Amino acid sequence: MKDNTIVVGLDIGTTKITTVIGEVAPNGSVDIIGEGSVPSEGMKRGSVVNLERATHAIRQSVQAAERVSGVRVESAYVSVGGNHAKAITSHGLAAIRRNQEIAQPDVDRAIENARAVPLDPNLEILHTLPQEYVVDRQEGIKSPVGMHGVRLEVDVHIVAGTAGPLLNLRRCVQEAGLRVDGFVLHALASGLATLEAAEQTQTVVVVDMGGGTTDIGVFKRGNLAHSACIPIGGEHVTADLAQILKIPMEEAENVKRRYGAALPELADQDLTLEITTASGSTHAISAFELSRIIKPRLAEIFSMIRDEIDHTLGPVELVAQGMVLTGGAAMLRGTVELARDRFRLPVRIGRPRGIGGLTDIVNGPQHAASVGLLLYSLGEDGRVPPAVFRERAEDLMVPPPAPEDPAPAKPAPVAASSAKPTSQKSAQKSDGPGLMDRIRGLFKDWM
Ligand SMILES: Nc1ncnc2c1ncn2[C@@H]1O[C@H](COP(=O)(O)OP(=O)(O)O)[C@@H](O)[C@H]1O
Ligand SMILES: [Mg+2]
Repeated sequence: MKDNTIVVGLDIGTTKITTVIGEVAPNGSVDIIGEGSVPSEGMKRGSVVNLERATHAIRQSVQAAERVSGVRVESAYVSVGGNHAKAITSHGLAAIRRNQEIAQPDVDRAIENARAVPLDPNLEILHTLPQEYVVDRQEGIKSPVGMHGVRLEVDVHIVAGTAGPLLNLRRCVQEAGLRVDGFVLHALASGLATLEAAEQTQTVVVVDMGGGTTDIGVFKRGNLAHSACIPIGGEHVTADLAQILKIPMEEAENVKRRYGAALPELADQDLTLEITTASGSTHAISAFELSRIIKPRLAEIFSMIRDEIDHTLGPVELVAQGMVLTGGAAMLRGTVELARDRFRLPVRIGRPRGIGGLTDIVNGPQHAASVGLLLYSLGEDGRVPPAVFRERAEDLMVPPPAPEDPAPAKPAPVAASSAKPTSQKSAQKSDGPGLMDRIRGLFKDWM
């Protein structure tokens, strides 16, 4: 196995640190050959707060993935939370000489001019993402090379990271024995791993719901066009439960995952839990009441997302055609339904797609960012590598794909017995209707 066929994604989150190792085939498709997730240490809201502990956890995660793959890794693409990033969209212009076709150097010049904006010296540019081009006022051009015109314009989304937190991250990764191939904005990675072919022609809001933060990326026709970060996440839901029920955080986390729901209507109406508080007293709470504690925090997160998009891009239901939820906190039952209600948009859970190999160990929404890091390394200008959709079509034909999320509306039945798991993964095995339509759709909509 040659080293240059190995790509590694290292997602350093507030809750967990995940390493995913991929092997790239000559046709550009990627097989997952290793994964290692460990609880995060030394991190708070996406920042390193303890270098030693963060380094230790990164090393553990990398070693776990190495053990699965049997490969030693030397470098990785590393995620950066949106709370350390600033993004602006800048306009660039290049004049084309009369009677000459637009060539790559002209495109580079337009992008370079867009990049020439004064940036805070404390910022390091992470991504220069060209959006669509305009040739002699004709908009919506993806690839202007070879066209005729005298005026080439481009909007470039520039994402820059704050130098201090990046240095800390780099230092931890290096101390853990790896080189940093590049830093990738968390929301960009999550979108690259989850957006479907049809969504490459739309405007879609990707929301990565982590423990300490919620990252937002707005993708217009497959390009990251806006990003933001909200300093609230799933941990805050857990903290609310811990405080109100007077139980330790670990127990609150357990209760949330097993019995919690974002919408009280989706909670098991017959289930009552007996809670023993930290001081030893007991009290009963229904699953319905539990969800009434959970809902306001998620509603707060969603209303902050709405405010952010409304202020920068316009009313979200007019700007976007859909929303994709990723990250561990998106797994809370009823989160998709609450988002549909709040945004009045089609909402689905985003699971990594377009990969082969050990897909079953990275198929949850909490793996979107780590898989996206691999795909970033294979694409250009922060776009989904085309092999993803070729591979996806093959995936669809042989083993059945991960399904769209189950239809909402009907409450998921929760067992009254606390031992019974509440996950609804059983749908995963079925083909679902319209498989061939989806395959056709993939080709129709791509490019
Ligand atoms: N099954 C689940 N149901 C509800 N919440 C979950 C579930 N699994 C994970 N979470 C929540 O997801 C959050 C962690 O998100 P994740 O994307 O895994 O990590 P990170 O914060 O490192 O980005 C935690 O707040 C955790 O409570
Ligand atoms: Mg995360």
